[in-house]
Order: sequence, then C-alpha cells, then structure tokens
Amino acid sequence: MPIRITRRGALFGATGLAFAAAACSPGPRRPEPEPQTGPFRHGVASGEPDQTSVVLWTAITDDAGGEYIFQLAADENFETLIFEEREERTYVTSNAISTFKAIATGLEPGRTYFYRMLFNGISSPVGRTKTLPEGDVDRFNIAVCSCSNYPAGYFNAYRELANTPELDLVLHLGDYIYEYGADGYASENAEDMGRVVDPLHELLDYGDYARRYALYKTDPDLQAAHAAAPWLMIWDDHEVANDSWAGGAENHNEGEGDYNARVYNAMRAYHDWNPTREPADPHGAARIAEIGNLATLFITESRLGMRDEPMDFSTFPIADDADPGDPANHQAIASWRANEIGREDREMLGPAQIAQIADAFAAAANKPWRLLGGQVVMGRVETPDMIAALPGWLKFIVAQTDELAWGYITRSQFDIPFNLDAWDGYVAERERLYDAVRASGGDMIAFAGDSHNFWTNRLTDDEGRQIGFEFGTSSITSPSPFERVPAPGVSFSRLIEEKNPDVIRHNDRDKGFIRVTLTPDALEADFVTVSTIRRRGYTPGSDSRWRVTRGANGLELNVI
Ligand SMILES: [Fe+2]
Repeated sequence: MPIRITRRGALFGATGLAFAAAACSPGPRRPEPEPQTGPFRHGVASGEPDQTSVVLWTAITDDAGGEYIFQLAADENFETLIFEEREERTYVTSNAISTFKAIATGLEPGRTYFYRMLFNGISSPVGRTKTLPEGDVDRFNIAVCSCSNYPAGYFNAYRELANTPELDLVLHLGDYIYEYGADGYASENAEDMGRVVDPLHELLDYGDYARRYALYKTDPDLQAAHAAAPWLMIWDDHEVANDSWAGGAENHNEGEGDYNARVYNAMRAYHDWNPTREPADPHGAARIAEIGNLATLFITESRLGMRDEPMDFSTFPIADDADPGDPANHQAIASWRANEIGREDREMLGPAQIAQIADAFAAAANKPWRLLGGQVVMGRVETPDMIAALPGWLKFIVAQTDELAWGYITRSQFDIPFNLDAWDGYVAERERLYDAVRASGGDMIAFAGDSHNFWTNRLTDDEGRQIGFEFGTSSITSPSPFERVPAPGVSFSRLIEEKNPDVIRHNDRDKGFIRVTLTPDALEADFVTVSTIRRRGYTPGSDSRWRVTRGANGLELNVI
C-alpha cells in the first residue's frame, strides 16, 4: 500500500443513496477460547475442489508417529465412507508439528462431504467440504476475502464468513499471513489483544514462514472458516514480502539474503500449510474453477511470476511543491504517465496468463458469468485533491513532521493514480487484458483484495467501453490506508467517489468480506461488515448490496 492517510467513513455514496452503516454497538462478548490441547491444534481445511476431488489438510502437534487415516464421508457421522487414505509412520524422535495433505478422489459433482483425520484413533475436528457442480446450476455461493493480519485484530470476519448459509466456496485473494516482525505493520495493539506474532522477527526462511502459518491456524475463527467450506486460495504480496514482484519486494532488503530463495521457502511453507494442489512451478499456476454451466472463475497469479517492479514517485517529473496553476506542470505529468507508467512492456500477469484467461473465457462464452479473482484493484482510481480536502492544522502538522506523506498530499493537486502497485501502475497490460476479455466472453466480473477497503467499480477501457464490474473486498483485519491520519469530518471515501467516475462505491473504514451469490440471471454481492476487530464479539452488518444483471446493452449494476 502506498500511503497511510486516515479514515472517516461516508454514510452516503456519490450516488446520493443511503447505505447501512455497521452497527455501533460492538456486539455480544464471546468467551475466550479454551487453550488447545491434543494432537489437532490447527484445525482442518479443504481446498481447490473440482467436480470429483478436493484437497484435505490438517496438522499434528507432538507427532511421535503411528497411524494416520484421512477420511471423507457423505454424512457427518462417517457412516458412509467415500474416501480413506491410511499411512503409518515411525520416527526416531518426534516431530514438533507435521502437516498432512491428501487428495480425496472419486467424488460426485456438487455434493457436500465431511472429512477428518484419525491419528492413532484420535479424531480431528470434522470439516465440511463440497465439490464443484456440473451442468446446470441454480445457485452458487462464494465468500470473497483477503488480508487477514493476526496482530491487527480478531478474525471476527472469518467467524461471520463461517456462518454463511449454504456456502459453496471461499475465495481468498491473498495476504493470508503478513511477514512482519512483532514491532512491524499493524501491531500497535497486538499485546493488549494477546495477538503478538510468532516468530517475533520478520519472516525470512522456511522455518519462519511455517511458524507464522502455525500461529495463524491456531485461531479458532480461522479454523471455523476453513471447516465451513473448501477454499480456493492465491497469494498476494505478504505471503512473501510487501509489494513483491518477480525480481524483489519493497520489504526485501539488503542483508535479507537471496530473494529467489526467500520466495521458494515462503511458497514451500504456503503449500505445506494450506489445502492447495501443488503446481509444478511453486509460484506459477493460475487456477481455473468451472462452476458448471453457471460460471468460470479464473484466479490470477500477479506477484511472483511475471510482475515488473511497481512504479514509485522517484521518477515524478516535477517538484512535490510545484505550482498546480502552471499548465506546464500538468503537461509534464501527462507525459510521465504516458511514457513511464504507460510503458507498453510493463507487465503484471504476462502474455501467457492473459492468453490463458482469453481461452478460459472463450470456452465460457455461453455461460452467464466470467469471473476474475485477482489481487490488486483493477478499476481506475485517481487521487483526490488532499490540499483542498484536509483541514489546515493537519496539513501544517504533516508538512512539519512527515516528508513522505506531505509529498503525497501536495502531489494530489495533480492528476495522479491512487496506487501504482495496483492495475493503475500497469495500464498498458490492463488494456491488453480488456482486449482479451472483449474478444473472448465479452465481459467479466472481477474481484480484488489487497486494498483493505470495499470497492464497487465500473471497468472501462481507454475508449470508455464497459468491460464489466469489479467488487473489491475489504480486509479481515488489516488497517485501511486512511486510518492513520486524524481528519475529523473528512470522508475520503466520498472524495474518491467524487473524483472517479468509475468508482461507484468506496468504503474506507469497515472490515469484512463479500458474500457473492450467483444465479443464471443475477450476480449479487453483499459487502458484509463486522462492528469491531478489537474484541472477540461483534455485530455483523452490511455496507451495501449490489446486483448485476444482463440488459440489452450488456451488464447492468444496481444497488439493492
Ligand atoms: Fe493486505
């Protein structure tokens, strides 16, 4: 994320429609969870289903060997076993924690199953999973989430996600963990909440990443979300390091060793600790989920394979305090945008992946929905004029104390993209992606994470033609970039909505996830919020609900 500004939510969108704000009461207290004992302290998980198989996962603490049996059944009591995989192990010395995976095969499409592991006769918790459907599908429910930062708060949004009725799939768009040490990003209240990270230092090698996953997976709310439905997961940057790209990361610094080794180890731990299928190339492999005749969901890999280094303002062509009244300055910025940010060779997905998307969407041309699960926000978002918006006293303080933030604020008087790490920093390739979508299925609905805010965006190409719509999910806990600057009375959401014709809704304050319901006639997206992440106990709410339908002139969006 490029900036740490502040938050003050709007109760009204740019459309003038009133939206339900999250309830003010923090909600009922929930009891502290019992300390976890026994071999199964990290829950169970399933993932990457297709029509006949699904990945099962669990971990065992103090694993001294013996008999391990993964079981999957048609019923919760395991009376009708469908799949069983047995293994015997003997160890010279016991293993502090072992992780286990199996691919349950021979399943039927669109069916609910239950699974567990028996370890020397002791049962793990029971998880619920589901295969992808085949043929005609009346309804399919997806929970879209991202950015679960353990020290930043309680995973109440995961708990609410687990409460979703008839949940078919969880789509996690990345930042499942964060790599920082105990004094790093979003850790200010961690000690008070009993959520200090392990290990205490920044993650660098395999053991570090594995320990961090082990910590996260002790969280009871995350365990509930995993046990509720199969997950389809993809990493964003923090599964390795902040603002990662193919050749480095903003948070991979001198003295931290070889970047490729770090990526390899981070990805090894990712696959060991999550219910994923193992791609031949550990950081390659975009994923495609065929949701019967209803939809095709393409999950992009946008960080480690092909991404060019994100742009920053080091090449900004004018002084930060340049005169916004001088047309020559605006001209210099327009050239910078065209020639630097707009360079044809800048890539996030690369041509091979865009061709894969085109193929997948062409094959789905007759389905109602072509879905793209990405990481960073795709819609066009320009920075609103902060000089005009912020109170004088705040500008005075920032100018005196924070050179970086002040540069950001003064530059905002010109037309500059909001986030150069997002698609606005890869605009030529975005056009190539849009061309591919237009040439194949014709339109798409995109989902994004990464931003820690909710977004409803219209997706338009350089000629203003509509490609589809984007729903960006807020974080499970990670702070909004607007949270840090105290600007009472300033609604950054409203400023962003007013500045950007393609941004229909922006929520810069709430945490939560998106419940998506697909039917042949409509796609509905409910921006689910939780009233707090600072205590276990919350009231669920809804920021806004959206319905996409197909009209005479293509996809149409309405608030509901
Ligand atoms: Fe994030």
